[in-house]
Amino acid sequence: MTDRPSSDRRWPDAPVIYQIYPRSFRDTTGSGIGDLNGIVEKLHHAADLGADAVWLSPFYPSPWDDGGYDVADHMAVHPALGTMQDFDQLVARAHDLGLRVIIDQVFNHTSTDAPWFKRSVAGDPVYSDYYVWANPKPDGTQPNNWLSQFGPPAWTWNHIRQQYYFHNFTSKQPSLNLRNPDVQAELRTIMRFWRDRGVDGFRIDAVTSLLFDPSLKDNPVAAPEVRDKVSGENFVPYTYQDHVHDLLPGDGIDFVSNLREWAGEDAFIIGEVTSGNQSIELCSRLATDGGLDAAYATDLPESGATAQAYADILTRADAPGQIGWWLSSHDQPRHLGKAGDGSAHDAKFLALVLATAPGTVLLYQGEELGLTQPELPRAAVTDPLDLLYWPDGPGREGARVPIPWAEGGNRAFTTGTPWLPMTWPEGASVAVQHIDEGSVLRFYRAAFALRRDRMGDLTLSDWSRDGQIIRLTYPDARVVLNFGPEAASIDGTPDFASVPMDGEMPGRSAGIWLR
Ligand code: NOJ
Repeated sequence: MTDRPSSDRRWPDAPVIYQIYPRSFRDTTGSGIGDLNGIVEKLHHAADLGADAVWLSPFYPSPWDDGGYDVADHMAVHPALGTMQDFDQLVARAHDLGLRVIIDQVFNHTSTDAPWFKRSVAGDPVYSDYYVWANPKPDGTQPNNWLSQFGPPAWTWNHIRQQYYFHNFTSKQPSLNLRNPDVQAELRTIMRFWRDRGVDGFRIDAVTSLLFDPSLKDNPVAAPEVRDKVSGENFVPYTYQDHVHDLLPGDGIDFVSNLREWAGEDAFIIGEVTSGNQSIELCSRLATDGGLDAAYATDLPESGATAQAYADILTRADAPGQIGWWLSSHDQPRHLGKAGDGSAHDAKFLALVLATAPGTVLLYQGEELGLTQPELPRAAVTDPLDLLYWPDGPGREGARVPIPWAEGGNRAFTTGTPWLPMTWPEGASVAVQHIDEGSVLRFYRAAFALRRDRMGDLTLSDWSRDGQIIRLTYPDARVVLNFGPEAASIDGTPDFASVPMDGEMPGRSAGIWLR
């Protein structure tokens, strides 16, 4: 990893990053929507978990057509979430608690509400090339066969310019033309703006989508083995294509050196890889000196956290320390429904899968409470991807239901009506789990304290897979992860485990031996 000597807050080699989805964390105004002051109030929760940093999902002005990932102004705070002064306080409070702050940078696209897009549509010569405009084919149809990652065509007609604009995601998220030096200058300004406000790092949204082949060639049909690996459900037509032309062509990888230059040597930069076929290989190529610190793909969560997927990542990554290890996010259904049976036994096993991982770890708010995926009525759902395939979509909105801080009423999330219905089971709250020694929350705290204080150097010296069992060897610790339902024999008693064990580990359990 890049050495960052100039930082006051040096980054550990394999940081634990706690993701906060601002609208769903804590509301201090009674609006039913979480806000920045709510984050300030509850930041100690992330510190208590042993996180090194918090990552804030977008809190910028946005029409929320895609949950805030449709940014209308990259250098301001959404008025429903607070003010720039609140943001400054958040950074100050985080630093007081020893937490670094990472913010999302959505550079692939803006909202159609962004002034840049409006000027680009109007043909303002300064903004004319800020987005990816292309003429129709002579018969008026789209310039090529590219599809958006959510499935519908990636081109939308604009009658004023009489051209199509490209969008990797929804039609409300026009893709920026990142080859335009003026756009690059804007992005540099944005990164410097936030660094000057004390931000310590960035999560780069959809880093694999940033560039595309300017010749706009059609993507070929995906071979079955490629199709299986493309992110997303198999019924989404995006998986029918091999994305060789619309994602990171030749010079795309090098583009991240710009991000490094703009962010500064001492910033931690982690990228989200959305390409399925070569996901882990791309993570390795993006996370190199002069590029990103780490990158992460959907392979492990989408597999339902299997031993096979875990081993596959270790086999394919140049160095496991470049990979971001995670199971839940605002884009995935809560992992306990998919990768586990929803029990505390499974929640603790999967917590150790993360706490022993050989690289950056991403935790998503609420997983430390063992929350499972809630059912939502269609009328409550706003997520464009869930709605497109309702009720068979990925369940992104379920993962965004606000988290319970206490029992009763609206669980101390809000004094108003929460923006999504909160139907958490009794006893799920932070308040109850804090006083219950056997709770999932207390286990997460203990597991991540052990990672930080006692596991030592997390550079993997060796690893092996035997069926459902993964063994990891670190200089100061040995780990056994049993992903299967059957018990397995082990040598003696581990120093730390997901359940008590001696001579034998039950199915779905993990143990750590310290040197
Ligand atoms: C990845 C984000 O995590 C997701 O929520 C969003 O829909 C897409 N990028 C588009 O920004």
